[in-house]
This record gives sequence, C-alpha cells and structure tokens, in this order.
Amino acid sequence: MRIPREVVEAIKDRCDIVDLIGSYVTLRRAGSNYNGPCPFHSERTPSFTVFPDSQSFFCFGCEAGGDAFTFIMRSENLDYPNAIEFLAKRTGVDIPRTAEEEKRGLSRKRVYEMNLIAARFFRECLFDPVLGREGMAYLQEKRGLSVPVIRRFGLGFAPNDFTALVTVLKKEGYSEQEMKEAFLCGISQKSGRAYDYFRNRIMFPVIDTTGNVVAFSGRDVGGDSKAKYLNSSDTPGFQKRKHLYALNFAKNHCTDELILCEGNMDVVALHAAGFENAVASLGTALTDDHARIMAKYTKQVILAYDSDEAGQRAAHRAMGIFAKVGLDVRILQMRDAKDPDEFIKKFGADRFRQLLKQSRTGFDFKLQTVLSRHDIAIPDEKIKAANELCEIIARVYSSAEREVYITAVADKLGLSTESLKGDVDRNRSKQAKAGRQQDSRHAQLSAMNLGDKINPEAAGSVQAAAAEETIIGLLLLYAEHRKAVSSRLVSLASENFVTSFHRRAFEAIMVLEQSDGGFEFSLLGEYFTPEEMGRLAKLEQKRRVLTENGTPVLRGAVETLIAAKEKKEVKEASTMDGLQMLLAGKRKNIKKNTEED
Ligand code: CTP
Ligand code: MN
Repeated sequence: MRIPREVVEAIKDRCDIVDLIGSYVTLRRAGSNYNGPCPFHSERTPSFTVFPDSQSFFCFGCEAGGDAFTFIMRSENLDYPNAIEFLAKRTGVDIPRTAEEEKRGLSRKRVYEMNLIAARFFRECLFDPVLGREGMAYLQEKRGLSVPVIRRFGLGFAPNDFTALVTVLKKEGYSEQEMKEAFLCGISQKSGRAYDYFRNRIMFPVIDTTGNVVAFSGRDVGGDSKAKYLNSSDTPGFQKRKHLYALNFAKNHCTDELILCEGNMDVVALHAAGFENAVASLGTALTDDHARIMAKYTKQVILAYDSDEAGQRAAHRAMGIFAKVGLDVRILQMRDAKDPDEFIKKFGADRFRQLLKQSRTGFDFKLQTVLSRHDIAIPDEKIKAANELCEIIARVYSSAEREVYITAVADKLGLSTESLKGDVDRNRSKQAKAGRQQDSRHAQLSAMNLGDKINPEAAGSVQAAAAEETIIGLLLLYAEHRKAVSSRLVSLASENFVTSFHRRAFEAIMVLEQSDGGFEFSLLGEYFTPEEMGRLAKLEQKRRVLTENGTPVLRGAVETLIAAKEKKEVKEASTMDGLQMLLAGKRKNIKKNTEED
C-alpha cells in the first residue's frame, strides 16, 4: 500500500504524541518534556522521554526513538503501512484506497459475513433435536460440557451432508467461488459442484479479538474420518500462524499469565473450569507471530501441552520461541492424564490450580532433561549431571528459589545440599565475573562504536562516522541545510559517505526533500526499520540540544568527512600494497620457512 503524504500529515495534525504515548505508559512532566518508564525495555529509573515540541520520543537507556508512527510500529508490532492505518483509525483520518485494496478489503468482509452465517447455521443444527442429536450427546455426555459453555463458545454441528451449508449460503447470495475462498466449501473435481467442507463435525468458531468469526475448527464425531481435527486454511481474513483460539476471551483475563494448550477441547474445558486465560494454536506448531501476539497481552505463559513425548518436545521448542520475545515461560507437568481436559475431568479444577502453582518455573523441566541425558548410577555421569544442574541453578535470581532447587537436586542425586550449595556459589561468582567483564567490554566496544548493530561500519571509520552523524542530524533538523545541499550551495553527495547506513539516510532525506511537499520526518518510516528510526531520532535529538547548528558547522562536518574518507582510502590502498608485498615475499620464502601459518 502506498501511503499518501496527506494522510500522514493529517494524522500528525490530529495526533498529539504526549496523549498517544500517555495512553501506553504513565508520563510525568519534566520541564517542557515528559518522562516515563520505557515500554521497550525494563528499567528502574525512567530514561524514556517524550518531546512535545518535536512530537518525538527517545529512550536514553535502550535508544528506542522516533515519532508517533515509530512508536506504534514498535508497541503494536506493526509495519509502517499498518501503523499508519492504526493511527488513521484512532484519529479518524480516511485513507483513500486503490481499487485493488478495495477489493481485498471487501473480500475479507465477505468472508467474515459468510463465517457468521455459517456459525449461526452450525449452532442451529447443534440445538436441533434431530440434526444435532449425536453432536449434542457427544458434547454433553462424552465431554461433560454444559449448555451455557456450549453457547458461550458458540459451538455448533456440521451435519453429515454435502450441501447443507452450501445451500444456505447460496440463498444468502454468496457465490461458490466466495465460499471456496472462505474455506467453507470445496469444488468437486468430478462434478464441478460445490460441497460442504466440514461434515459430521463439532464446530468451533475462531473469533478474533475484535469479534469477527475468522475461521473454524471442526472435530470429527463419527470417528471414521481420517482427520480428528480439520481447520480452515488461510483466507483473506485469517492466517493460521497468527491466530490463537479463544484469545477473544482470554485477552481480558491474562494480565498475569496465559495458558497455552494444544487443542480446542482443552481450552473449552479450562474456561469452563474457571481458567479463562487459556488459548491454543490452531493445529499448527507455535510460531514467532503467536509468541509476539501473546507478549502483547501478558508477561508469562504457562505451557499446558499434552503429557506425551510429542507434547513435551513441542514444549521444549516453544520455550525457545518465547524466550526470543522475552516472555517468561513455565511448564505444566501433568501425571496420569494426557491433556488438561482429561486432567480436569479426572481430578477437578482445584488440582489443576495446584498444578499451575507448581509449574513455577521451567526448572523441573530442565532437571528432567539433564537427568534423562545422564545415567546417574555411573559416578562420572552423576558428577556431570550435578555440574550442569549447579550451573543452571546459579542463574536463578531468587535465593529462596535456589534453595528449593538445591534440595530437589540433592534429593535426586543423593548428594548433600552443602556440597551442592558450594558448587552453586562458585558458579555464581564465576558468572558474575564473566558478566562484569562483558559489561566493561561492552563499554569499551561502544566507545569505539563496536557492537553498533544499526551502523556496524562506524567502528571501522570512527572519525568519518562522527562527521556523518553531525551532517544527518543537521539535515533532519533544519530545512535551511537541506535546501543548501539540494541547491549545491553546500556540495555533498552520497558518494561522500563512508557508512552505508548514513548514506541511506542521506539519500532518503534528499529524495523526500525533492519530492512534492518536501521533507517530513514521518515519511522516513517507509525506508527504515523502527530501530533505525530510533537512531535517526537520536541523531536529530543530539543536534537539537546543541546551540551551534549553523551553516559553518555543516560545512565543517562535510570537510571533515571528505578528508576522513580520503585518509581512509589512502590507508587502505597502502595496506593493500603492503599486504601484496608481504604476500609476494612470503611466496618466495615459502619453501624455506614451512612453519609459517
Ligand atoms: N489439532 C489440530 N487442529 C486443532 C486442534 C488440534 O490439528 N484445531 C491437532 C493437534 O495439533 C494434535 C491433534 O490434533 O496434534 C490432537 O489434538 P488434541 O487436542 O491433543 O486432541 P485430543 O486430545 O486427542 O482430542 P480431543 O481432546 O478432541 O478428544
Ligand atoms: Mn484432548
């Protein structure tokens, strides 16, 4: 989607960044600016600042920064066009759409409408004494669900009929092509006719967080179908890798934690037992997208996967995915039941609540993994297991928790808690020392621009990069400087830049400067990631607080850059020559001196 500049400008006119950010974090006035806890990293002292004058924000702790659009990209996990759409909605600005987008939006709307009709139809069938007899008996007798729970989840029944839903939808004016697009019917290759996709199944409508019926899961009740569960494939309004079953309910009950399980039935059973924070992915393995979405709603996930080996393997994998988005993961370990649904039926909600409490950390899980790798009947293996576990325990922050784990390990390995505690403490001081060394290395590296992920080339050309920063900061800040460059009053071109990040910034600024309507910081969002936008905001901010920002400063920086670039090129050429000579010499001596590496 191409974003018209008018839309961006209209949004900026109507959206105050202090109000916007203030609806995400609590801001306090500090002089002419506002401070608050940074929403993008955890910190004790607020280093996150919002600048009403420039309608921008910057965190001095994690260097997140930018404008309202960057803020929304980061906090709502959206790309630039979607962040614009988000803010357009919030501020009531209309985005003119192209014909193709119009069509896509329309077909999504039509899919949701068809799904709603289908969901109502399935529900009627379930509550029909004849059509729904088998399905209702299954849900109530076999699965123990009450009518209110069945209603709350909008459960339904797809009759064992090839044309039941197709007929209903046709009457409502939908074409077979549309039904196919919505994944509600297939087209027979033999007859070319449409047939119901879901048949003889309990139907679970999948509802998104704004209340649209976006898809269905159908569970076979006849027991003769190959697939126990059938889910809608991706449609114009549904992406399996992004949707979670029951998040529409769970989103209001999950400030502390979300419970992630494998199946729809587990979710329904958990909600019915009072655990309204349960969700499930829909027949796909957990994706990064799922994890990011969950991270928007909660801080912690409890994995309640099946207790079989496949479930436990999936849990291991999920731990890694959640770690990437900074979600704390705990793992539930069920005994004598294969899944949460069965557990609750056998042992009741209170026992499940206990299980949740016991899942306090992933430690048990790690303990078992280590034990499964070592045969502790063999002394050497037992030592290895003890060492691995002490290292894991050493990383636990709370001393009470460490003590509990030490006791558990002592018990399992038949060792004394004293000796284990000694090992844990030694590991802790070793880890602390490594941490300190890493911190001071980070400090050293950052003084030399090393480890700069946004502009890694800066480390190789400290002087040039510094001059470039001045130039970019000035160009971002002052129309006067952009004009001077575009009218060649100050001679500066992209070839003059040494680092490619700054060169890209220069090029984007000049492209916008020369476009109709001129430069606008917010339009840079199209060219840069939110992290890169943060860096640009930082460069701008750095200049803003300085008093000397006139043309002489710009000219001076350009001269420094050109000189630094030349010097670097000369140096590179001479080291190249030197290297070549060295290599030639080496080749000559190679026979004499074979120890050379
Ligand atoms: N599954 C799926 N689509 C769903 C739900 C589950 O494809 N909407 C898959 C799961 O990924 C799992 C399998 O079907 O591999 C079984 O799911 P599970 O919930 O464990 O089902 P069961 O407990 O065996 O069945 P139920 O509780 O419905 O009796
Ligand atoms: Mn089950």
